[in-house]
Amino acid sequence: MLDLGGKTAIVTGAGQGIGREISLLLAEHGADIAAVDINVDASAETASLVKGKGRDSLALKCDVSDSKDVDGCITKIVDWKGAVHILVNNAGITRDNILLRMNDSEWHSVLNVNLTGTFNLTRAVSKYMIRQRFGRIVNISSVIGIMGNAGQSNYAASKAGIIGLTRSVAKELAGRNVTANAIAPGFIETPMTASLGEDRKKMMMDMIPLGRFGTGKDVANVVLFLVSDLGSYVTGQVINCDGGMIMA
Ligand SMILES: NC(=O)c1ccc[n+]([C@@H]2O[C@H](COP(=O)([O-])OP(=O)(O)OC[C@H]3O[C@@H](n4cnc5c(N)ncnc54)[C@H](O)[C@@H]3O)[C@@H](O)[C@H]2O)c1
Repeated sequence: MLDLGGKTAIVTGAGQGIGREISLLLAEHGADIAAVDINVDASAETASLVKGKGRDSLALKCDVSDSKDVDGCITKIVDWKGAVHILVNNAGITRDNILLRMNDSEWHSVLNVNLTGTFNLTRAVSKYMIRQRFGRIVNISSVIGIMGNAGQSNYAASKAGIIGLTRSVAKELAGRNVTANAIAPGFIETPMTASLGEDRKKMMMDMIPLGRFGTGKDVANVVLFLVSDLGSYVTGQVINCDGGMIMA
């Protein structure tokens, strides 16, 4: 049920952190991986780790917020393998600031990468998935998109937007056997969270019933479930992967 042999998966933000863990876990289960990242050295490193697991991999430099760049990238991937079965929209950034100080660039850059980037990739792959009557789309949202966070209005809006986008895509594409789901991670130890101060980390830890921070592998495990046959009857859902931080 977890066999992804013969499947091609696109993972954005594959160069490090959660995206790298997702790429490696899907490869371990047989998928070939298109490792997409704005940092091509990092995605090349992920691609070489995937190859080390015996799967095929293509590293692509792409800014997910740029629709022309994305369309070109998807064409290269389809030329490479002839099909796209799995899309994991994972690339994301933060530009934190309190509302009164948040400038236009901080607002737009986060919305453009996190939300428009997810739209760009989803639109570009959907025509292939519709045609082949199979597709698995997983969007990485965040608990912050559900509960909000002071100093992260841009990030929270982008991650809440991903949930609305996911549910709409799920409804639109369900008739073609394409599922779309979101994962809302809590606090995951990656380069993105490494720079947070000890005070903030302690505050987060106090909110986690399971008493530990998450790992990229914890999130990758949920992705694997959703894209494998085990998850074939699940669509339009948001699955929290947060050690119990949010229970509702
Ligand atoms: N780490 C956490 O605690 C946490 C919690 C909830 C949600 N998330 C989400 O999980 C995803 C991955 O987070 P992470 O912690 O691994 O982050 P990270 O910063 O470690 O990695 C993000 C990757 O995205 C790439 N990227 C950034 N902008 C890009 C662009 N415009 N085009 C293509 N690639 C781009 C970066 O180069 C990097 O390789 C993000 O969407 C993040 O919002 C993370």
